Amino acid sequence: MLYIGVDLGTSAVKLLLMDEKGKIHKVVSREYPLYFPNPGWSEQKPEDWFAQTMDGLKELLSECDKSQVAGISFGGQMHGLVILDENDEVIRPAILWNDGRTVEECDYLNNVIGKETLSRYTANISFTGFTAPKILWVKNKEPENFARIAKIMLPKDYIAYKLTGVHCTDVSDASGMLLFDVKNRCWSKEMCEICHVKEEQLAKVYESYETVGCLLPEIAAQLGVSDQVKVAAGAGDNAAAAVGTGTVGEGRCNISLGTSGTIFISSEKFGVDKHNALHAFAHADGHYHLMGCMLSAASCNKWWMDDIIGTKNYGEEQAQIEKLGENHVYFLPYLMGERSPHNDPNARGTFIGMTMDTTRADMTQAVLEGVAFALRDSLEVAKSLNIPIERTKICGGGAKSPLWKKIIANVMNLKVDVIESEEGPGYGAAMLAAVACGEFASVEEAAEKLVKVVDTVEPDAQLAAKYEERYQKFRQIYPACRELFTKLVD
Ligand code: XUL
Repeated sequence: MLYIGVDLGTSAVKLLLMDEKGKIHKVVSREYPLYFPNPGWSEQKPEDWFAQTMDGLKELLSECDKSQVAGISFGGQMHGLVILDENDEVIRPAILWNDGRTVEECDYLNNVIGKETLSRYTANISFTGFTAPKILWVKNKEPENFARIAKIMLPKDYIAYKLTGVHCTDVSDASGMLLFDVKNRCWSKEMCEICHVKEEQLAKVYESYETVGCLLPEIAAQLGVSDQVKVAAGAGDNAAAAVGTGTVGEGRCNISLGTSGTIFISSEKFGVDKHNALHAFAHADGHYHLMGCMLSAASCNKWWMDDIIGTKNYGEEQAQIEKLGENHVYFLPYLMGERSPHNDPNARGTFIGMTMDTTRADMTQAVLEGVAFALRDSLEVAKSLNIPIERTKICGGGAKSPLWKKIIANVMNLKVDVIESEEGPGYGAAMLAAVACGEFASVEEAAEKLVKVVDTVEPDAQLAAKYEERYQKFRQIYPACRELFTKLVD
């Protein structure tokens, strides 16, 4: 049988066709625009997501035996606010996970309602990218749009709705809304009240591997597949990526180097970091996870390469880097502000430490290292919770670079297990579809049977020691700049 995984990302939707043995038959992708209508704002049109997903699906299925297609599921960019009116029409562009406009609303939630109360209801506090403060922003700044809201959805759930006609979401993605009681895997009545949300405006919540419905007959006809193709709820992209890299069950770790950068730790038990620096969310395997999320990871490298030095040849630029561990230049990767662990939408990207002999290669290196150091900040929080982590999986576009993987292994001092495919969320989504169709008894069984480690990048003791020294310097830069960042934004 064949299973489709849809990874609804920020720069593109990637679609993947997998068989029951886990073999990937085809991968296609379609880009769509990202709008920055004000500094720190970030929006996309849900209609673009759907049009490009349908277009991509047609190409994905163009050469396969369509009668074999059994299921489809999703990994989606998290936290985005999609609002529909009573005719299920999109009211305004979606406000995305890396949008920083809700500073006032977060201030209200964290300081007037209070972090302790939020954490008690949802296991999390408010971050500008989360969905609940965006709902309050629409209420405060666009009351005419707020009055029209019939349904509140997350990005991938809009696609599921368009394919099935069902308003659904899953536990992992719902966790990032700040409206969800993560521990008990249901909507929080208290948070809905605080955010002026009626429960009927929210979707029905499923486990990620559960079937929400089948393809609508007109969609099935357009794609040339049966209308009995099952649609599984899917997961937020990080939980889907964790499934796709076998980061399920107890105490496993995955690093994702996509537009965002995340460190994801799976856990069989519910647990909360008492400072809420890491997110405590439900996992797609039926359990829980902790996660640190930086807002700009591979996107820093893309920005530096494409927009600043103007090259598409990332490999050639990285080949000029010769002195790992010995760079005087540091880069703070906060091009969209920062989430974990600083929670500071005013933080900004910064190069520091250049001298007349600094080269372009030093700056390229600083960008790759800055992202690794910022991920290490979240690893430090996990370590402070006594979570033992010795190794991690890795996925996302940045994981294609052998040099970046080496830097990550040494900055984090972790063994980095490389798996056969770095298509994290798409592969995980296809696995969730396979579980929903009964191919595997559980997500853990699917991971055990399908995910294969093909290489391990081991840290080198000398290089890791050099990076340890540099990390101790890196971690002093943000506190020294914090106040200045706020003044610059004012
Ligand atoms: C996670 C987060 C990002 C997005 C990226 O909390 O905001 O990783 O899911 O798509």
